[in-house]
Amino acid sequence: MMLLDRGIVLEQPRTIHFGAHILPEVGRIAAAHAIRRTLVIASAANRGRVDALDLPGEVAIFDRVDREPDLAMLAAARALAAAFDPQLVIGFGGGSAMDLAKLVAVLAGHAIPVQAIVGAGKAPRRRAMLVQVPTTAGTGSEAGSRALVTDEANGAKLAVESPHMIADAAVIDPALAVTVPAAITAETGIDALAHCVEAFTNVRAHPVIDLYAREGIRLVGRYLPRAVEQGDDLEARAGMALAALYGGFCLGPVNTAGGHAVAYPLSTQHGIGHGRANAIIFPHMLAFNAPAAGDRTAEIARLLGLAQPAAEQAIGPAARGFCARLGIPMRLTAHGIGPEHVAAMAAEAAGIRRLLDNNPRPITGADIAGIYTAAL
Ligand SMILES: [Fe+2]
Repeated sequence: MMLLDRGIVLEQPRTIHFGAHILPEVGRIAAAHAIRRTLVIASAANRGRVDALDLPGEVAIFDRVDREPDLAMLAAARALAAAFDPQLVIGFGGGSAMDLAKLVAVLAGHAIPVQAIVGAGKAPRRRAMLVQVPTTAGTGSEAGSRALVTDEANGAKLAVESPHMIADAAVIDPALAVTVPAAITAETGIDALAHCVEAFTNVRAHPVIDLYAREGIRLVGRYLPRAVEQGDDLEARAGMALAALYGGFCLGPVNTAGGHAVAYPLSTQHGIGHGRANAIIFPHMLAFNAPAAGDRTAEIARLLGLAQPAAEQAIGPAARGFCARLGIPMRLTAHGIGPEHVAAMAAEAAGIRRLLDNNPRPITGADIAGIYTAAL
């Protein structure tokens, strides 16, 4: 599976600023570039602390990021950008705010529909600067070149990928996460873990990315239970912020695989948040892939600190126990999803070839239905 000499391209933010209480760095970056108009795309939890960015000049705030981005939300944010003409766009929040900021930044000053840039390498050159400020430790969107936006007409996730959506700077302040509730901490943390694990067991896995994946998995095993238990444990928050960043590094050149594909319909058809959807699916996909990625699955268990499963079949329950101990409701029935919903979800997931083709073990629609049934 592994070829050391296989080609790979790493594209990351030009500068990455990391450290507790460095938030005012955002304002210093803006001032250094003589920015006079900044548009902040802020999640609801962050609209009240935009002042802490210490931005120079005029500031407009788009604060209607109350769900994962859809076309209506993007249109509203683009309208504000068109009227305000920002020189700098800031994503301030979780993956939803940062993904929306990428799309708004790359489309600012261009009168083209987002549908024209869906896919890889179609986005125009960015005219505004882009700075990403994550406030949860999960998506790793601050590091990446991809953004997802849901077409609310049919629930499909449109994926846009472009080097022009990589931030000029990512400012990662783990202290911002101390107020994130335990449930969100747990779910977004498992999302970061899933990014690392799905890249590590990916058919496109690469040694340069394995480095980040291994360390991300180890950090989640060591720090996620602590961050959930005690929100103001700054060392644990910093460990998780790094794990999320490393997960983001995994996404660009390698990306996720079956786990994310199988998780998507939980969000698009049943409104379950991205982190929780991935957490529910995570142990099942780890167990499903174990026969095709035995050594790496065993290494994941060891890095996470799971009790060493004696047999391949034990990895699923062990991983499920890790998630359940974080307080994540792991049953689909707890979310109103029953056997009658399985077929429609499996049909949607089976069509997400861009991710399923990355899976180490070929996976069919029937396999996916089996995973949902096991997760009921
Ligand atoms: Fe994810």
